[in-house]
Amino acid sequence: MPATAIVGLQWGDEGKGKVIDRLAEEAGHVARYAGGNNAGHTVWVGEERYVLHLIPGGILHEGKVNLIGRGVVVDLHALEEEMAGLEARGVAVRERLRVDGRVHLIFPFHRELDAMAEVWRGSGRIGTTGRGIGPTYADKVARTGIRLADVLDEESFAVRFEALLAEKAAIAEKVYGRRLEDPARIAEEVRAAAERLRPLVVDGGALLQHADAAGERILFEGAQGSMLDLDGGTYPYVTSSWTGTWGIFGGTGFPPHRLERAFAVAKAYCTRVGEGPFPTEEHGPLGERLREQGNEYGATTGRPRRCGWFDTVQARYAARANGLQGVVITNLDVLSGFARLPVAVAYRLPDGRVVEDWPAELGCSALEAVEPVYEELPGWDEDLTAARRLADLPAAARAYVDFLAERLGVPIVSLSVGPGREQMFDTDPAVPWTWS
Ligand code: GDP
Ligand code: IMO
Ligand code: MG
Repeated sequence: MPATAIVGLQWGDEGKGKVIDRLAEEAGHVARYAGGNNAGHTVWVGEERYVLHLIPGGILHEGKVNLIGRGVVVDLHALEEEMAGLEARGVAVRERLRVDGRVHLIFPFHRELDAMAEVWRGSGRIGTTGRGIGPTYADKVARTGIRLADVLDEESFAVRFEALLAEKAAIAEKVYGRRLEDPARIAEEVRAAAERLRPLVVDGGALLQHADAAGERILFEGAQGSMLDLDGGTYPYVTSSWTGTWGIFGGTGFPPHRLERAFAVAKAYCTRVGEGPFPTEEHGPLGERLREQGNEYGATTGRPRRCGWFDTVQARYAARANGLQGVVITNLDVLSGFARLPVAVAYRLPDGRVVEDWPAELGCSALEAVEPVYEELPGWDEDLTAARRLADLPAAARAYVDFLAERLGVPIVSLSVGPGREQMFDTDPAVPWTWS
């Protein structure tokens, strides 16, 4: 059975949680491969809202195996809180969750250093989620990081933790002039939390390979978005992991040739939380209106999201890099009532050239300065939230979707017109993208 990936096409918060929930119902295994609790994936089950940060979206479905893959960074305290929150709502978390022993751990000092580094950056701040993501991946790459398996190995933890703590304390004090919060307490708490998780610890790569060999359906859950990818995104205003499909293999141990299908989720417009280039950002009242109509406030930090128009230059770049078979468009309902809908089809660069392809060769300041060239499409007034098939949409909405598909160069396989599970339908039954 083909393994399938769902990734974010834009700057995160595209509605991946909802789409993953839909596919998870048919999958046997759901695996996260990148990021940490910087993610916030919203799933509505009837009137109940769930926001998942670290735990894969299959957790809400009975009988699924949910893997936190080795490429994820894990804050044990946050993980236990998330598990407890779900358990309190009747979810059998421990039956359904597995964690790769090789995940790197986020310690309290990583969060503190994340905040200190942001202050240090001043006007160049990234606008991180403050969850310690960057400092933890930095330690992983520097080979000073500590994995869950290392905590469970008493000898290696004692030596490695002391060395790491000494280094962090020195950096906090000598660079930032700050003292770290009660470092002595941390070791014991981490050890106890790791022990509680021990029964769930696995080799995630082997788990997925066996499942694949047994014909199980495997779903990879992307976090963040393609433009927040460490290498493919708007560096340095990115997160510290590989968010695109290419992150799956390093981040789980699943072999590349066994991934058969990849789909991305994109909003019918664009949003971004945090700093960095966003060519189609709408600063005026129209941006404010998108934010209000789309309720664009972060699922993790509650920050207002920056809003703007759909950007085909950005989206085509990301679609090609991810090797997509199709795109799911969410939040189409949010666009109701706008008389005209600008869509970026090209950029005018600071040197005057007009390009249709993402100018990846530009430095960050030049990228901040590109001006989008828009094509304006007619809007519609109808409320779309009750639409359940393509034919229910007004002609202008269908024309809008067709225009995006043509510019993206990949089919739009499904449309979402509201947060609910039922508010989603496939565009063309002849293009299968789910398993059933
Ligand atoms: P993720 O990080 O990609 O999973 O997305 P988030 O959960 O951070 O943000 C998406 C938000 O949009 C959530 O509040 C969803 O409930 C909501 N949502 C998802 N699909 C739709 C849709 O089609 N229309 C509307 N209006 N909201 C949606
Ligand atoms: P989901 O999975 C939107 C952004 C932050 C910041 C940058 C770096 O819900 O789509 P970090 O804390 O990762 O070092 O912050 O990345 N960011 C996200 N934006 N959705 C997310 O996840 C994000 N995860 C990180 O706002 O700009
Ligand atoms: Mg989110």
